Amino acid sequence: TKEKPTISIGFSQSISEDDSWRKSMDNTMKVEASLHPEIDLTISIANVNTKKQIEDIEKMIKNQVDVLIVAPLGSDSLVPVIEKAYRRGIPVIIVDRKVNTSNYTAFLGADNVEVGHIAGKYIVSMSKARANILEIKATTDISPGVERSLGFKQIIDQYPNIKKTSITALDLASINNDFIKALDSMPKIDYVFAFNDIIALQAWEAAKRKGREKSIKFIGIDGLNDPNGGIQAVKDGKLTATILYPTGGSEAIKLAIKLANKEMVAKNNVLNTILIDSLNADIMSNQFDKVSQQQSNIETQQNVIKEQEKKYLTLYNLIKLLTFL
Ligand code: FRU
Repeated sequence: TKEKPTISIGFSQSISEDDSWRKSMDNTMKVEASLHPEIDLTISIANVNTKKQIEDIEKMIKNQVDVLIVAPLGSDSLVPVIEKAYRRGIPVIIVDRKVNTSNYTAFLGADNVEVGHIAGKYIVSMSKARANILEIKATTDISPGVERSLGFKQIIDQYPNIKKTSITALDLASINNDFIKALDSMPKIDYVFAFNDIIALQAWEAAKRKGREKSIKFIGIDGLNDPNGGIQAVKDGKLTATILYPTGGSEAIKLAIKLANKEMVAKNNVLNTILIDSLNADIMSNQFDKVSQQQSNIETQQNVIKEQEKKYLTLYNLIKLLTFL
């Protein structure tokens, strides 16, 4: 059989796999890549270090990858190195967070303004447009943080009886203090809308310590389907809702293959999002479980094929040797 030429894909991931959303992104890329034997995928993880992410991308440019995928840490610092790759003719796919340049080939991610709209509309309808909200925002250097908050504001501002106070989560450790201060100064909070499920759950824990977790409805974002993820937290009644924010791992690989094959792709590739609450949490996790079951079946089958190939090769070599003798 004629081997297909190899496609080398370099993926620069900004955040470590201690973060389950990142781990899920890396894993779905690996699974998708394993379905295409012609793909050689290299993942470099920058561990929240911009300097390292720039170095990782520099290395991929030097190694002349066929396609570069970047999950950027911030919006500005990576612009020069991304533009450098693009100018050298390497197709560049940006995933999740945006960068402040248009010199890349394709962007892939869910629409974070839409995510904010969904959260806003949910609260409006549940509260009959009368509520006190505490918003826990992300820092302003990451585009999903800015866009989620903007989308949320666009909806909430239309309703005079909805009041919103915002605090910023600088990191997961400081959220406790800031949130506790906010809890103490706001005797009535109906909803907490947090930048992601991790922060929403931290807020839930803090509220629980004050005995206030039952009077507040917590809404997060990500909707990961793992034991510590948002879907389970909805099932456990900790979060009232989470908004699915897909990682786009397998879609990124599919886009990369198209680009390597010189196919046309859209500049903006939007991933779907959906609100998950107690009504659909079971259905969603069953669906995700099914998909991962199918993926692991495929992996098992691939291993069986590899074993067969090995046996065949040994047999083939043996026959060659015997005929030679
Ligand atoms: C994970 C994460 C997610 C969030 C995304 C936004 O690192 O913080 O929780 O949805 O990044 O970039």
